[in-house]
Amino acid sequence: MIVAVDGPTASGKGTIARAIAAHFGLPVLDTGLLYRAVGYQTQLNHGDADDANDALAACDFPKALLDDPALRYESTGGLASRVSVHPAVRRALFQRQVDFANQPGGAVLDGRDIGTVIAPHANAKLFVTASPEERARRRHVEMLSRGVAVTYDAVLADIHARDARDTGRADAPLRQADDALLLDNSAMDAKEAIAAAIAFVETKIRRPS
Ligand code: DC
Repeated sequence: MIVAVDGPTASGKGTIARAIAAHFGLPVLDTGLLYRAVGYQTQLNHGDADDANDALAACDFPKALLDDPALRYESTGGLASRVSVHPAVRRALFQRQVDFANQPGGAVLDGRDIGTVIAPHANAKLFVTASPEERARRRHVEMLSRGVAVTYDAVLADIHARDARDTGRADAPLRQADDALLLDNSAMDAKEAIAAAIAFVETKIRRPS
């Protein structure tokens, strides 16, 4: 069984993907981490994330980089969003994600284009979202708890910029697949959103389409 979980930044899709994977005993891939590694490696190379050649050169990042805590920084998310617009970067990361999705036994992947490009044949597709204001509120609380000094307005502006770039790019933009369940969790807590997601995947197992 392949489960595709897509959605914008700070929507809770990673939490939901991990919970689905744990519930059904499946491996999970956070595909955003691959783009984050490329963005961060571009910076380590003193390259420009907006330059397709610099970003492509960073696609052969060392595997150990995927464990670097710096990939979780907000600034790295911004770099990831910028390198991800380049078709050459998307091509370079494509096969690795497809192979993960198609491994025997199945998998859960979260990202922006899993249900539309990487695994259009996925058995269950979720499009996880929440209002920009609610995503900014959650991200702001989480950043303050980590001791990062940032204002709510700055977080909201960053979320709007990331959304515009992720949905506006020409190649594999963020969009809900036609056959994906829209899970807007603006008014749900994490437990409720996870329960709704698992219940949906269960309907797909019982009644495969
Ligand atoms: O999910 P995330 O915030 O870690 O993703 C960081 C960026 O990577 C996101 O802004 C766009 C890009 N991305 C993508 O283009 N396609 C994916 N499947 C996953 C992430």
